[in-house]
Amino acid sequence: MCGITGYVGAREASEVVLQGLHTLEYRGYDSAGVAAFINGNINVVKAVGKVSNVEEKIAALGTLKGAHCGIGHTRWATHGAPSDTNSHPHGTENIQIVHNGIIENYAPLRAMLQSNGFTFVSETDTEVAAKLIEYHYNNCHSREDALVYAMRDIIGSYAIAVMFRDCPETLYAIRKDNPLIIGVGEGENFVASDIAAVLRYTKTYYQLGDLELAIVTKDSICMMDMDKKEVSHPLLTATWSIEAAERGGYDHFMIKEINEEPEAVEKTLHPRIRDMMPNFEEENLSDERLKNAKSVTFVACGTAMHAGLVGKTAIEQLCRVPVKVEIASEFRYNDPILSEEDLVVIISQSGETADSLAALRLAKEKGAYTLGIVNVIGSTIAREADNVIYTWAGPEISVASTKAYTVQISLIYLLTIKMAYLKGKISEAEAKEYTRILYEDMPSLIKDTIAKEEEIKDAAKLFAKYEDLFFIGRGIDYHLAMEGSLKLKEISYIHSEAYAAGELKHGTISLITTEMPVIALATQEELYEKMISNIREVKARGAKVLLVAREGAKDAAAEAEKVIYLPRCEKFFTSIPLATVLQMLAYYVARERGCDIDKPRNLAKSVTVE
Ligand code: M6R
Repeated sequence: MCGITGYVGAREASEVVLQGLHTLEYRGYDSAGVAAFINGNINVVKAVGKVSNVEEKIAALGTLKGAHCGIGHTRWATHGAPSDTNSHPHGTENIQIVHNGIIENYAPLRAMLQSNGFTFVSETDTEVAAKLIEYHYNNCHSREDALVYAMRDIIGSYAIAVMFRDCPETLYAIRKDNPLIIGVGEGENFVASDIAAVLRYTKTYYQLGDLELAIVTKDSICMMDMDKKEVSHPLLTATWSIEAAERGGYDHFMIKEINEEPEAVEKTLHPRIRDMMPNFEEENLSDERLKNAKSVTFVACGTAMHAGLVGKTAIEQLCRVPVKVEIASEFRYNDPILSEEDLVVIISQSGETADSLAALRLAKEKGAYTLGIVNVIGSTIAREADNVIYTWAGPEISVASTKAYTVQISLIYLLTIKMAYLKGKISEAEAKEYTRILYEDMPSLIKDTIAKEEEIKDAAKLFAKYEDLFFIGRGIDYHLAMEGSLKLKEISYIHSEAYAAGELKHGTISLITTEMPVIALATQEELYEKMISNIREVKARGAKVLLVAREGAKDAAAEAEKVIYLPRCEKFFTSIPLATVLQMLAYYVARERGCDIDKPRNLAKSVTVE
């Protein structure tokens, strides 16, 4: 997804901005550009493709050298194909902007501007925003007013950094429904869509609020609302180190992040456990709220939605409360039936996913109590939910979500234990024992799973040559099959289907041949025999089978080409080590196939458009 960086201070602006853009590359993009003040003018350099293309162009042209104030952007195309012309920054000789988000009413705005003499060179909605600001500035002669008027006109979402030619060494910024931070340095300041972009220079920052504008010079930061009244925000400190935002010796962020799972789970769970009982006092999550919840609805997208499916099995099993899991992009248009007694849990790593945010707002509108399970501090979902529980996974850079999912499900298990206890479905002793397993055993259990790397690598070799495969499972294993399948498709480009094993013979078993291998997940003791029957059915049609089973599973080796045994684990929690196995399997298959693992084609890390 698009990324923004901006700098004002004594350093070479284009270098700082380019550095920030490199850090933001993980978000996914298709073109980039930089603008900077030079001798009273704003010079722009942009190019389709990698940030390094812009870097080379800047070095060759030399037109940004000596600038101390600049903005930059990585673009992920929405309006208009990736091209030099459609790349940001956009504007005129008087104003240049970079923009994340979507201007929904760009067409009527463009027509209005055209009738006022403006012409357009790109297909972008961003150029419309730039010229809209200029239009207002020409009329009102106040930069602040021009920005406020533009915010009033624009329907949609945006984080925009602006440079006005007649106000050098100053950055302006506005935002609505898209993240924008102001990084605070000494004698220098920054704007960025993501703290990771400026982490090399500062860890302290402000989060600009919705419908606010900021004026940033090297020595001052002024934030104001639409009435031009100054507003203040808490100064936040990023807990992420630069090293955490880099690969730290691993070949890919994805495998680095999988290796961080034991620590991430510990960091997420330990502060919420007191006297070996789940404790959410810090989050002000009242016991009454959990105890009285009549239903739970998880709403999320992609992997985060699959975490909700694990939550459904766990909560229904232990709390006997009905749970729904909704895809956010569907939920938002389905007129959901909700009331005050319903708990709606929005799960999101980024906290900025457009569909999940819209679903959150709808759930609030319908009167439900909303709880965010979010990884990024101060993100929009975290701020807008009635309550938020942060997953302390640290930055997840790889587009494929791994550690974020593992901590999401671990946290949901902890919530489940609390809810089951409050509802009187389990005793205190049972609650303490479940909590102890999460607290004491889980981090080392994930480490033991990661230690199976060589076995998983070997299994990956079996599948790397196929173009299609099936994942099958029953119960919670079926939900994990969905996640394993998504991960594999996403990064290895192998087409796969996740199927409830018992459903195969109702149609899709016709696809099973010698060219269609099957990954069978059979970690649930009570469903094991049923799974073995399903495995025999596919083997009888020629399929090669990889079986993932509990340690000690009966005759497993005789039933499949290859077996991966999970480390011994309380059965309620097997989805946690199983998730790690499936993530590593996808990773090694993609690696075997030489894929661009951290930045799979067509994908973005944070999907801030609908
Ligand atoms: O930031 P979010 O958790 O809201 O993102 C949701 C999905 O876009 C995300 O989980 C996506 O499915 C992953 N790339 C899958 O690995």
